[in-house]
Amino acid sequence: MSVVVGRDLRKEYVLNGQTVHALRAISLQVEPGEYVAITGPSGSGKSTLLQLIGGIDVPTHGSVEILGTALERLTDRELTRLRLLRIGFVFQRFHLLPVLTARENVELPMAEAGVFPRRAAGPRPRAAEIRGAHAARRSLGYSAFRR
Ligand SMILES: Nc1ncnc2c1ncn2[C@@H]1O[C@H](COP(=O)(O)OP(=O)(O)OP(=O)(O)O)[C@@H](O)[C@H]1O
Ligand SMILES: [Mg+2]
Repeated sequence: MSVVVGRDLRKEYVLNGQTVHALRAISLQVEPGEYVAITGPSGSGKSTLLQLIGGIDVPTHGSVEILGTALERLTDRELTRLRLLRIGFVFQRFHLLPVLTARENVELPMAEAGVFPRRAAGPRPRAAEIRGAHAARRSLGYSAFRR
């Protein structure tokens, strides 16, 4: 089964009444174990393509399948689950939560996924702060995922 299948992907943004064609009919397929680099000049649509493959944005036309699942058929909750468990995304800006330590920033999505790392001796996670971060995410419209 392919990891990623993108078919005839088009993305248009309307900006000040002008239509920007960020992607014009892109198709691609990525197989398990493959490493793929998407290269091109600034503005050629690399980030746009990654956002469609990552289920962060939706295409104007065309379809994305991740591990055999067509993203357009998923509910918002199912898409959230797929992103949580199957997709790793390193953004140019890291989008770290400043109230948490580096370690807690890593642990937060792990806790959402039900994975609890064995903890070396040291301070306990600041539960109140982690709960605060969950509340902040909800207030930004990100639904919390629970198994
Ligand atoms: N939200 C948006 N609204 C309007 N136009 C956009 C939006 N996002 C991207 N674009 C336009 O779509 C095109 C593709 O942008 P994209 O960010 O995907 O390019 P990129 O290849 O990732 O560039 P870079 O190498 O600079 O990161 C550009 O013309 C950009 O200006
Ligand atoms: Mg980019």
